[in-house]
Amino acid sequence: MNSTSKPPLLRVDGLRTVFALPDGREVAAVSDVSLALNAGETLGLVGESGSGKSVTALSILRLVMPPGRIAAGRIHFDGQDILALDEAALRTIRGRKIGFIFQEPMVALNPVYTIGQQIAETLAVHRIARGAAARAKAIQWLEAARVPDAARRATEYPHQLSGGLRQRAMIALALCAEPSLVIADEPTTALDVTVQAEILDLLRELRASLGLALLLITHDLGVVAEMADRVAVMYGGRIVEDGPVGDVFRTPAHPYTQGLLACLPGTSDGRRLTVIPGTVPSLGQFPAGCAFAPRCPHRLGACDVAPPATTSIGADRRVRCVLHESATGVTS
Ligand SMILES: Nc1ncnc2c1ncn2[C@@H]1O[C@H](COP(=O)(O)OP(=O)(O)OP(=O)(O)O)[C@@H](O)[C@H]1O
Ligand code: SF4
Ligand SMILES: [Mg+2]
Repeated sequence: MNSTSKPPLLRVDGLRTVFALPDGREVAAVSDVSLALNAGETLGLVGESGSGKSVTALSILRLVMPPGRIAAGRIHFDGQDILALDEAALRTIRGRKIGFIFQEPMVALNPVYTIGQQIAETLAVHRIARGAAARAKAIQWLEAARVPDAARRATEYPHQLSGGLRQRAMIALALCAEPSLVIADEPTTALDVTVQAEILDLLRELRASLGLALLLITHDLGVVAEMADRVAVMYGGRIVEDGPVGDVFRTPAHPYTQGLLACLPGTSDGRRLTVIPGTVPSLGQFPAGCAFAPRCPHRLGACDVAPPATTSIGADRRVRCVLHESATGVTS
């Protein structure tokens, strides 16, 4: 998956996460997802709503709740087998070694504690600092996240902050234990365009100063182009194409990636991935073959038989599409 000899910081192999439907059937929201992320690297995970991006992120953190469960695959992070860890070991990893930032800060922030208390509590839980030292460090982290008047804001509750400030507070909370990986799930989608740009700048700056690896989940290919080293495109619960951002954007191989890029007229509000005709099939409604087939302009008979295998199409590039399948290139 990567050209360096060091094992990647995060490696996901053949992940399958299923949900039980009310009728008792179990269906996969994520199928055969493999990805790798090196220390300090940013991977953009992109795809339309319902493609399985958040379920992938939750699986990596082992936060999938019933009726969902991880049914197959391996997840290795920093030398540890995430699927083999007990809850206590997982709590050490979550927040301490892997920070997470969600689209809606109110989900991550506790409404009954002040921002400063929450950061100080995280520092205490992870045995980084306690008491007055933790409170002082909390203010420093709010300053690092460019929260103006941080000492006063630290004493405020989440609902007292604007959306942009809440997102900065959540970034401070996610980073205060100095994790080596941050998973950011649509970190700017709920914000207006100016604030979005400020938050992305902040993430870029902190990523560089802390040497973070970033798994950045987004609908927005413009964000991927600006922020990511590599991109993985998801559709119907599978990664259908991945590779270095420049290569994938220059020569997209999968018809879905081609469609997404064709929908990019270059204006900021044209970047939303809404223009490919048709919609992502809902859970349990995937076709037997390629999930993209009902929307694909290149559909062949073979596309409806079974989901295409992953084919290697060059240095660090893979695609899942029968148009690229060959006896030598199929890797899974
Ligand atoms: N708790 C759940 N119970 C049942 N189905 C779920 C659950 N969570 C997610 N799903 C289903 O899994 C599929 C993937 O959802 P997921 O949230 O990962 O999509 P996403 O790519 O993050 O979309 P979005 O861009 O809208 O956030 C969807 O069909 C969704 O309905
Ligand atoms: S496998 Fe077939 S239907 Fe799927 S993207 Fe490729 S050409 Fe289109
Ligand atoms: Mg999501």
